[in-house]
Amino acid sequence: MKTILPLRLAMVGGGPGAFIGAVHRTAALMDGEFTLVAGALSSDSDKCQERAAEWGIAPARAYESWRQMLEREAALPPETRAEVISIVTPNHLHHEVAIAALDAGFHVACDKPMTTSSANATAMAEAVARSAKLFLLTHNYTGAPMVREARELVARGEEGPIGTLRKVYVEYLQGWLSEDLESSGQKQASWRTNPALNGPGGSLGDIGTHAHNLAEFITGQKITRLLGARRSFVEGRAVDDDAMALIEFESGADGMLRCSQVCVGRENGLSIQLFGTKGGLEWRQEHPNDLTIYSANEGPLTRRTGNGYLSAFAQSSGRVPAGHPEGYLESFANLYREFAAAIRSGGAMPEHLPSIAAGVRGVQFIERVIASSEAGSTWR
Ligand SMILES: NC(=O)c1ccc[n+]([C@@H]2O[C@H](COP(=O)([O-])OP(=O)(O)OC[C@H]3O[C@@H](n4cnc5c(N)ncnc54)[C@H](O)[C@@H]3O)[C@@H](O)[C@H]2O)c1
Repeated sequence: MKTILPLRLAMVGGGPGAFIGAVHRTAALMDGEFTLVAGALSSDSDKCQERAAEWGIAPARAYESWRQMLEREAALPPETRAEVISIVTPNHLHHEVAIAALDAGFHVACDKPMTTSSANATAMAEAVARSAKLFLLTHNYTGAPMVREARELVARGEEGPIGTLRKVYVEYLQGWLSEDLESSGQKQASWRTNPALNGPGGSLGDIGTHAHNLAEFITGQKITRLLGARRSFVEGRAVDDDAMALIEFESGADGMLRCSQVCVGRENGLSIQLFGTKGGLEWRQEHPNDLTIYSANEGPLTRRTGNGYLSAFAQSSGRVPAGHPEGYLESFANLYREFAAAIRSGGAMPEHLPSIAAGVRGVQFIERVIASSEAGSTWR
């Protein structure tokens, strides 16, 4: 029997004190599908070495810069060099690193928002097309079993418990930017409120894109039109910390999207409610193992992870039996596991995995809300 070796992963970003790099590492390694072999983990090479030592990366493969990493890794023998580059830096670097990595023959996993402008997003899409390499955009919530169950139930249309879709209410509420945290030098707040590093959409890019992607993923439809408004509540802040939009879908269903980082006391309140001709659905990120089903004839019912009554898609997205909570890390791990399977198959990305098209749409969403807001909230 042939031994299946883990795919070799290299990371850009994720240095000491960083948020999402460690999440990507845990998720990628969770199912034994990847091994982390190299990194340009920080803009500071001492910090890169420090993190590499913690993570078991050989000092010689903890690089001074991402350019050096791509160059040196590409020059290694095929059986040793990194195969996949994971990009977990502030947003302004995503496009440059991704394009260089794809052009050098690496697959790419990149966090959201994909980049800071439509022009960059188009250049990234062209790089994916010419490279024939695979590109994963880590909209991690699409990996949650009950989000996948919701998508399956909506797709059943009149045959399912929701019927024909009418309304979608999606919101992502946080409170951590309610005050001028950036002036204290807090790292994550500092770059997220600087348009040059973050892009033009503050809350829109950071969490609004998750809400937008979640709504399109569960409905299986594109948001075709929106009317948006955004503002900054914290004085002097150069990007929005709050935004909302009326949204319309391809089928004529409509709804509302809200994202805010000034909802004092809210932690990571991503949630979605959908209603059709027969019933409704509700999923809350802070209780990810539950999916509530609403109907006219009985009280709300809860479907839960790990049970045999779920769709095959939701069941295959779990790891442990019912009653054993799974969450944020596992949803990320599902994306990495399925990305690995797609790479090994030598084929295309499966339709359900967020990829370059979802990234382009996310950037367009940010720009459409900004354009609508600046034009006095008109439909775009
Ligand atoms: N999917 C999610 O749930 C989720 C959650 C948080 C963040 N994110 C995204 O992940 C990305 C990183 O966010 P974060 O909160 O981890 O940021 P962070 O500030 O905590 O970490 C960024 C890291 O990038 C490193 N870095 C900066 N410039 C670099 C360079 N030139 N070369 C190498 N490394 C460099 C920094 O040193 C740091 O280690 C952002 O795009 C963000 O939007 C996604």
